[in-house]
Amino acid sequence: MKLFALSDLHVGYAENRWAIERVTPRPDDWLILAGDLGETEQHLLYVLDTLGPRFKRLVWAPGNHELYTMPGERGGPRGQDRYERLVDLCRSRGAITPEDPYVVWEGEGGPHALAPMFLLYDYSFRPADVPERDAVAWAVESGVLSRDEELLDPAPYESRPAWCRARLAQTEARLAAIGELPTVLINHFPLREELVRLRHIPRFSIWCGTRRTHDWHTRFRARVVVSGHLHIPRTDWIDGVRFEEVSLGYPRQRPRDRTADGCLREILPGPAGAPLPRA
Ligand SMILES: [Fe+2]
Ligand SMILES: [Fe+2]
Repeated sequence: MKLFALSDLHVGYAENRWAIERVTPRPDDWLILAGDLGETEQHLLYVLDTLGPRFKRLVWAPGNHELYTMPGERGGPRGQDRYERLVDLCRSRGAITPEDPYVVWEGEGGPHALAPMFLLYDYSFRPADVPERDAVAWAVESGVLSRDEELLDPAPYESRPAWCRARLAQTEARLAAIGELPTVLINHFPLREELVRLRHIPRFSIWCGTRRTHDWHTRFRARVVVSGHLHIPRTDWIDGVRFEEVSLGYPRQRPRDRTADGCLREILPGPAGAPLPRA
């Protein structure tokens, strides 16, 4: 029993649906879906119904795209209500969400507490001399503006950073209550600023996470931290902890012969010869 992860499936793209429909069934294994599956409820259900039967269990954390209120669905749930609706849909298909008790992974490489999280971002991945209120203008100056500003409604919070702060407080309390078990931390957005390497659009960083999670990998005994959002799949080691960016990404961003199977990342037990976790 292995634990795999994939994020940023973006199934609005036909090429991505084609790829996902060819994922090899692994009936003994679990799959983490780390956000940006698509933009609509139909997209989410499509992924759950396509991949759910191929794995023993799915674990879900939302991305920014799931939370979009798309033009044409203005009457639908927004912000927190939308998030809760997505949680309900996941639960209806048996997937574990950030609102469920953390489950203990007892498969290969365990036991570890699996902690799917929804933390968002607070514009803090910016230079110290740019105040928070000017962060978006600072990014726009370089020609970069996330669609989140238009489509990701933070209601009932006054802003996305305010929503982020509320999520951080709730999540921190729950993680602190886990006890001594090592963890797998799962969040759509990377937990550390140095992981955000966006050579062509560096100021997009403000929509990529929060500095408040800088030490969570050590504070909460992470063996592996799983994230997506950047569409730059890679593995990093920081303080002896493995950080996995597990995006499938947009079709144009990967070689034509790269399958979804080829993008699935083994989280546990993990690559042979990996450094031992810290004592
Ligand atoms: Fe994405
Ligand atoms: Fe994203």
